Amino acid sequence: MRLAGWGLVAVLALAAATRAGAADQAVGKKVYAERCSPCHGDTGDGNGPAAAAIKPPPRNFRDPGFWQGRTAAQLKVTVRDGRPGTMMSPFAGTLSEAEIDAVVAYVATFGPAGH
Ligand code: HEC
Repeated sequence: MRLAGWGLVAVLALAAATRAGAADQAVGKKVYAERCSPCHGDTGDGNGPAAAAIKPPPRNFRDPGFWQGRTAAQLKVTVRDGRPGTMMSPFAGTLSEAEIDAVVAYVATFGPAGH
């Protein structure tokens, strides 16, 4: 009975881990829609409703060139600390670490596969 109990715990833990992955994607998408798409655009092309008024313009995540030489760690620093002198403001404090990780992962889905 004891062993069967642990088996059940393992199955439940696995189920929870799988669900957490799906939740992160949903979180990333939601955070992006609420906080990033006004500038970076729903499709990540840098053409959100606010983009025309912004200099320098928001980045286009659909441009394969954008992904050359940029790592997820660098994108995370940008989202956390912002880019001084631009409209890209820091999201530390507004978003949790987990939300920043989730939105960076979501932004990566706009890049070419395997970038
Ligand atoms: C008010 C407009 C605005 C909003 C909102 C905004 N950004 Fe930006 N973002 C910019 C601008 C402008 C730049 C270009 C900065 C530069 O030229 O260095 C930029 C650049 C970036 C970059 C690229 C930095 C690099 O390596 O060149 C990333 C990644 C990014 N934003 C992610 C996000 C994410 C994720 C969100 C939402 C949590 C977000 N941005 C919200 C305006 C915005």
